Amino acid sequence: MSESGGANANAKKGAGELKVSKIRRGTVIDHIPAGMAPAVLRVLGIDRGVSDIVVMAMNVRSRSLGRKDIVKIENRVIDEETLQRIAIIAPEATINIVEEYQIIKKDRISLPRELHGVLKCPNRYCITNDPQEGVPTLFLCEREKPLELRCHYCEGLVRGEQVELIL
Ligand code: CTP
Ligand code: ZN
Repeated sequence: MSESGGANANAKKGAGELKVSKIRRGTVIDHIPAGMAPAVLRVLGIDRGVSDIVVMAMNVRSRSLGRKDIVKIENRVIDEETLQRIAIIAPEATINIVEEYQIIKKDRISLPRELHGVLKCPNRYCITNDPQEGVPTLFLCEREKPLELRCHYCEGLVRGEQVELIL
């Protein structure tokens, strides 16, 4: 997908080329797997309303992924805990930090080895699911592709498609 022309990049250019506005300052989450942008918005809390500009594109063409989603948020830097949640639903995503229309930093998301309080354990007998104990969950990443995480407490294995985020 080619996007050029700064702030007024919404005008139609080549046939079949999708134009999405560039942002002035903030974060662009690029290379989100197609269809996962709504889940990313939920993790960012944007489904609960925000005052800054948010741009979402779904199913746009990507050279590397075929189709991808993009989320752009003005005036926002994404904290580490939120990045960990995004890493679980969009492991291929790129985080671009934008200042004055220029990308000043571009990072691939990396999944940490330990996830504290990020995922719910699916085992209902796990100590982390006992409200009286109040033990925050802890998962260890055993494998990234496909994603496999193990609960530190009950040692249950959770696969990528089964993960339930704590939001
Ligand atoms: N972007 C934006 N606002 C800007 C600058 C960039 O919204 N002021 C967006 C672009 O639209 C693109 C993403 O940030 O979706 C990454 O931009 P860029 O690095 O220029 O694109 P690519 O080179 O295609 O990125 P990559 O190499 O990561 O695929
Ligand atoms: Zn458990």
